Amino acid sequence: MPESFFVLSKDNLELAIDEITAISKMYDKFSKIKTISNLVIVQSKTNWNDISNRASFVKVSGQVLRKMSGLFLDEDHFEILKKAETFVCRIINISSNQFNIPELENSMGDMISKFSHAKVKLENPDITVYLIFTNEENFFGFSKRVNEKSRPKKIKNYPHELDWKLTRVMINLIGIKQGETVCDPFCGTGTTLLEAESMGINAIGLDFDKKMYEIAKENLKVNSYKSKIINSDFQELVKISGKFDGIVTDLPYGKSSKTSEKPEEILKRFISIMPKRKKIAIMYKKELGDNLKLKGLKKYDIYRHKSLTRTILIK
Ligand SMILES: C[S@@+](CC[C@H](N)C(=O)[O-])C[C@H]1O[C@@H](n2cnc3c(N)ncnc32)[C@H](O)[C@@H]1O
Repeated sequence: MPESFFVLSKDNLELAIDEITAISKMYDKFSKIKTISNLVIVQSKTNWNDISNRASFVKVSGQVLRKMSGLFLDEDHFEILKKAETFVCRIINISSNQFNIPELENSMGDMISKFSHAKVKLENPDITVYLIFTNEENFFGFSKRVNEKSRPKKIKNYPHELDWKLTRVMINLIGIKQGETVCDPFCGTGTTLLEAESMGINAIGLDFDKKMYEIAKENLKVNSYKSKIINSDFQELVKISGKFDGIVTDLPYGKSSKTSEKPEEILKRFISIMPKRKKIAIMYKKELGDNLKLKGLKKYDIYRHKSLTRTILIK
C-alpha cells in the first residue's frame, strides 16, 4: 500500500495530527497512521495530495518511496526524475543528530545530477526530492509540483471572525465528506460556509444578527457560492436538522458580536438542543464551558492570549 508523509506545523500539533488521521480515515477507513514527532506517515490507498489539499496544518507532504537505514542512494531512487526537467533536494531533519543541511542538499543534488538529465531549480521545480531523518528510521520521498488552490475570497471581515485554519480543522475532524452538508448555526461572516464550499461540501448558515447575515451573504456572493443563510436564532436548526450531516460552529464570546443572551446561556441552550445523531465540532471560550461538564469524544484547548483560550469539542 502506498505511503505518504506529512510534516506538520508544530503549533497545535495534536490537532494537526488528529486532522491528518481523520482525513486519511475518511478517505480510506483502513489507513494506517504512524507519528514521529511532527512527521506523520500514512499508509493508505489515497494519494498524498488529496489528503494534503484538505488539511490546514501541513507544511510539506509527498509520497514515500523507500525507508532507508543509511544514506545510500542508487539509480533506482531516481526513476521519479525520468520525465522531470527540474528538481530540488530537501532535507528534513527531525532526528537528534546535527547535519549541515545546505551541504547535504548540495551534495545530494550533485549526486542526482549524475543519474538524471533534470536540472536543479530552487523555486517551483517539477519534482522535490526529500530525505527525512528521524531517530527511528529515514525516509526517501518526493512530491510533484502542484498548483496552489486559490483560497475563497472574503470582502467583508469582522473582529470576531474565526481564522480559516481552525474552521477547516473542525470540518476535517468530524469527517464531513464532499457532497455532504454542514450547518453553522452562528455563522457570523460565513467562514465555515466559505471553507466548506471550497472543499466541495454544501453548507447552511444561521445568524440572528441581520448585519452578520448580510456580511455572510456578500462573502458568499463574491465567490459565486450557493450556501443557504437564514437570518434567525440558532434554535431554528432543530427544524432543519434533516437537511445537514454535521455542525461546525464557533459560539459567541461576548465581545465584538451582538448576542441574544449571555454567552454562557447561549452555550447551555445550544447544548440542550444539539442534535443527537450528527457529527459535531463546536468551539467556545474555555471558561464558559468549565462548569458545564460537556461530554464529547475529544477536547482541544487552544491558547490565543492571556484572556482567551478556546476549546474545540468534538462529538
Ligand atoms: C463568534 S461569532 C461567529 C464567527 C464566525 N465563525 C466567523 O468566522 O465570522 C458568533 C456569532 O453568533 C451570532 N449569534 C449570537 N447570538 C445568536 C443566536 N441566538 N442565534 C444565532 N446567532 C447568534 C453573532 O451574531 C455572531 O455573528
